[in-house]
Amino acid sequence: MLEIPSYFQRLYTAEEIDKRVGELAAQINRDYARRKVHLVCVMRGATVFMADLVRKLDLEVTYDYICVHSYESSSSSGVVRLSKDLDENVESRHVIVVEDIIDSGLTLNYIKENLQSRKPASMALCTLLDRPHRRKIDLSLDYVGFVIPDKFVVGYGLDFEQKWRQLPDIWAIN
Ligand code: IMP
Ligand code: MG
Repeated sequence: MLEIPSYFQRLYTAEEIDKRVGELAAQINRDYARRKVHLVCVMRGATVFMADLVRKLDLEVTYDYICVHSYESSSSSGVVRLSKDLDENVESRHVIVVEDIIDSGLTLNYIKENLQSRKPASMALCTLLDRPHRRKIDLSLDYVGFVIPDKFVVGYGLDFEQKWRQLPDIWAIN
């Protein structure tokens, strides 16, 4: 059996997450009424969130996956590298980027600029979690699930060294 360490603190229960994801979906349903949306899920952390979100959308939806890795250098200017590109073209489509968490903003900013150069009809940024304390790049986020305290979190797709992604709740681990 998977044992959760006693120092983990539950931040959001599965029920609270489900309710909030429903509210985000309702917002997207309103904003994109009668339009087709193309979700771009940022692997791997956002896959659980996107799987729940997409099933609450009452629109014509398609989705694709992108995977990036970031390396924090000592000069604190992180370098982001694309490790799996989209399979489909996003040109002239209404794109919503779906992310698990925004910390420095470097990852999402890289994805935003990369996708913008492919000329989508529009692009919105959606993140389940926003931790603004260490932000290095100002990003205007369109859909935010929860603004969280300055703690590392796992569960609901988010990992620490690839572990804990399958936990239904979100936990702070420090
Ligand atoms: P950023 O580029 O600094 O904004 O970092 C965002 C990326 O780092 C996310 O896509 C996550 O994969 C990862 N990340 C940042 N904070 C956490 C956390 O608390 N738990 C798990 N992953 C995190
Ligand atoms: Mg991520």
